[in-house]
Amino acid sequence: STQWIKAVARDEVPEDDVIAVQAGGREIALYGVDGEVYATANLCTHGNARLCDGFLMGHEIECPLHQGRFDVRDGRALCSPLRENIATYPVRIEDGVVFVAL
Ligand code: FES
Repeated sequence: STQWIKAVARDEVPEDDVIAVQAGGREIALYGVDGEVYATANLCTHGNARLCDGFLMGHEIECPLHQGRFDVRDGRALCSPLRENIATYPVRIEDGVVFVAL
């Protein structure tokens, strides 16, 4: 069954930017895009880089190490050198708190 984990206060997720949070023993990247919050794994699928250190452009997060890009909405790898999509997590906002389903 789905387990909703409290991640962070909604107002701590920056608009047009990314932060990393710990939730359920995992490191998750949270993105603020157009008033929505999206969640992915924070570790790039290509190498040892954290997406929270990357650059968010619209719905695309660019990895800081080799500039691979993922769509934060569905985790799709959009360009080389990425070959694997990244895990995404459902997000729910309740009482000003962001929950992620792990
Ligand atoms: Fe992210 Fe290489 S580690 S693109």
